[in-house]
Amino acid sequence: MNKRMNIPYLDFSGMHDPMREELDAAWKRVMDREWFILGEEDRAFEEEFAAWCGSRYCIGVGNGLDALRLILLAAGIGQGDEVLVPANTFIASALAVSYVGAKPVLVDPDRETALITPEEAEKRLTPRTKAIMVVQLYGRVADMEGFKSLAEKHHLLLLEDAAQAHGAVQNGKRAGTFGTAAGFSFYPGKNLGALGDAGAVVTDDGDIAEKVRKLGNYGSSRKYYHDFTGVNSRLDELQAAVLRAKLPHLEDWMKARRAIAAAYETGIRNEHLRLLKKDEGNGYYTFPVFTARRDELLTYLENLGIHCQIYYPVPIHLQKAYADLGYRKGDFPAAEELAETGLSIPLYPGMTEEQVRYVMDALNEYAPGEKE
Ligand SMILES: Cc1ncc(COP(=O)(O)O)c(C=O)c1O
Repeated sequence: MNKRMNIPYLDFSGMHDPMREELDAAWKRVMDREWFILGEEDRAFEEEFAAWCGSRYCIGVGNGLDALRLILLAAGIGQGDEVLVPANTFIASALAVSYVGAKPVLVDPDRETALITPEEAEKRLTPRTKAIMVVQLYGRVADMEGFKSLAEKHHLLLLEDAAQAHGAVQNGKRAGTFGTAAGFSFYPGKNLGALGDAGAVVTDDGDIAEKVRKLGNYGSSRKYYHDFTGVNSRLDELQAAVLRAKLPHLEDWMKARRAIAAAYETGIRNEHLRLLKKDEGNGYYTFPVFTARRDELLTYLENLGIHCQIYYPVPIHLQKAYADLGYRKGDFPAAEELAETGLSIPLYPGMTEEQVRYVMDALNEYAPGEKE
């Protein structure tokens, strides 16, 4: 290895530094206007993000979890209903289902893609199944044609958790536009991130859009008149202004992500490491590598100054929070394997070629059982 480097898992400076003036202007605009909730920035961002996705409506909400929760509420899913959710997703996908009183029913992913398939999902259907929440995990897009057919065949609602998939595409369509509605997160580290918590619902369905908008604003569209027992989950003006400043850069950032991922996909050559199957439309929110001795690889890379993340160390069915679902170890073998062997390596706009090379060299020189 060459000279030791220090490579964070994520570094915002490559995105934020070149646009610092635009960010400063965005928050100043909000300060000067003195309007902080449900104002011009929110409305403008909603229009701009809907257009960017290729969707009719966008409703800004407080975070990605609320986006999913409000979609389910708006769709009338609740007590006694079941919703299919991947076993290897971030817990928010399942929590959204639990919060509306429905039951998350888990589906084992395909180990080659880390995504659920229509075939596996179909095995988990019961007469109580009302919806499928497809999670576009790591920025990868599942077989949406297949899911559409499955949903139509069984009269199910098809929803997307697109929290990790801004900019991902399949057959020329962007993630978030394949089902009845989709939830996005703008958590800071996402492909499009706010400077705090933020989220959005994207849909072509006018009824869902209207209901989500009211539900997130205390069940109201006219101040102090309430049609539903809603919640408070709105995209605030400061975050909306920041997101508006960042959105025009997203395409360039996606290009940067794809270029780094392409380098990794061709440059990582080590028989002890497994990569996921290539997905042409991947938004590359994360780039995981898989290996039997994952914790050893993590320590090896940390010792070389390369910082990584594990998405996610414990699958949903083995989380304490979901003990009452009654699942056991061994029930979702692929989810368990991905959790035990996966490690996501640094990938962010602004990463230099030298940094990418350093990460690849480290991975290619990794040999299980050997100390650095
Ligand atoms: C797949 C997935 N779903 C939902 C969420 C929830 O988003 P948020 O953290 O904005 O609530 C996240 C991100 O945190 C996520 O990665």
